[in-house]
Amino acid sequence: MPSSSKAGGPGDEKHLVCVTGAGSFIGSWVVKELLDRGYHVRGTARDPAHRKNAHLLELDGAEERLTLCRADVLDYGGLRAAFQGCRGVFHVASPVSNDPELVRAAVEGTRNAINAAADAGVRRVVFTSSYGAVHMDPNRSPETVVDEACWSDYEYCKRTGNMYCYGKMMAEIAATEEAAKRGLELAVVVPAPTVGPLLQQTVNFSTDHVARYLTGAKKVYTNVVTAYTDVRDVARAHALVYEHPGSPGRRYLCVAAVLHRAQFLQLLRDLFPQYPVTSKYEDDGKPMARPYKFSNKRLRDLGLEFTPVRESLYDTVISLQQKGHIPLTAPVPKRARL
Ligand SMILES: NC(=O)c1ccc[n+]([C@@H]2O[C@H](COP(=O)([O-])OP(=O)(O)OC[C@H]3O[C@@H](n4cnc5c(N)ncnc54)[C@H](OP(=O)(O)O)[C@@H]3O)[C@@H](O)[C@H]2O)c1
Repeated sequence: MPSSSKAGGPGDEKHLVCVTGAGSFIGSWVVKELLDRGYHVRGTARDPAHRKNAHLLELDGAEERLTLCRADVLDYGGLRAAFQGCRGVFHVASPVSNDPELVRAAVEGTRNAINAAADAGVRRVVFTSSYGAVHMDPNRSPETVVDEACWSDYEYCKRTGNMYCYGKMMAEIAATEEAAKRGLELAVVVPAPTVGPLLQQTVNFSTDHVARYLTGAKKVYTNVVTAYTDVRDVARAHALVYEHPGSPGRRYLCVAAVLHRAQFLQLLRDLFPQYPVTSKYEDDGKPMARPYKFSNKRLRDLGLEFTPVRESLYDTVISLQQKGHIPLTAPVPKRARL
């Protein structure tokens, strides 16, 4: 199979691929999506036997086609061993926080992953970037349609202490440069803050963002707009860009909606009025931030139908209830009402 043709998909032998950070919120759904599509999957985790990864072994097809192995992204040798015999790699693992320490794992970890993939004879890598590498530019005109050509202003990220966005942007640049040097096919999925049901037991940063409003831990909201996407769409996007290689280094913006925080909270209140979602606004004296335009056309052209954010939020809340992260305070509304 030539490297520019489909890397997998209907009619093709379903081969072995590796997913780093397999137990993460997004990684777990990527593993599930790939298993559902018939691939053999090797997932990496720093401690594969830890109970936080046990949900992976329960997935349909896992018994026959999933293995887990140990790898820290800061250890080239571990990644090299994990990628041995794989035709594709999905590099998802990266710490999500605002600790400046994460920059090293994001950037050096990505360099290690790309080089280990090239050395192991992998054909194609899908890198999970972040919308943080795209939207943080204070000088962008509000009329701009945010798309794959947009990049954050890294000086601005650093100046404002947004080390997560800075780290992901530097990691995406490192992935692109290293892949070009090593002649590796690379596709980059750029997800917005991601919501939707959890496969793992613990909350991650983006689902905790929702949980904190529902429990009343967040007492006020601010004048911000945020983009959202559904974790199931993010996983589908990873599989689609893997199976339909475009030009090398191609980015794919995975964004379903941009909402002002007031709209986001109103949606939560409409769906689940039983929770103490704050309506206290911290006025910054500025005009209301306006949701900007964006384009997710590249992924729609590959056949991705984005889940409406209302549905994603509904499923996030139900999942948070089921996993015991928020109290089940009242009968849940019927999904049919969505
Ligand atoms: N969630 C979002 O809203 C969002 C949006 C855009 C992009 N992303 C990106 O999507 C990816 C996953 O995010 P998530 O929210 O699903 O993450 P998560 O649930 O917080 O999990 C983080 C993952 O990174 C792994 N990791 C951290 N440091 C590592 C290291 N040194 N070596 C190996 N693995 C390491 C962790 O592995 P262990 O299990 O071994 O600890 C874990 O699997 C990240 O690249 C993130 O930047 C997330």
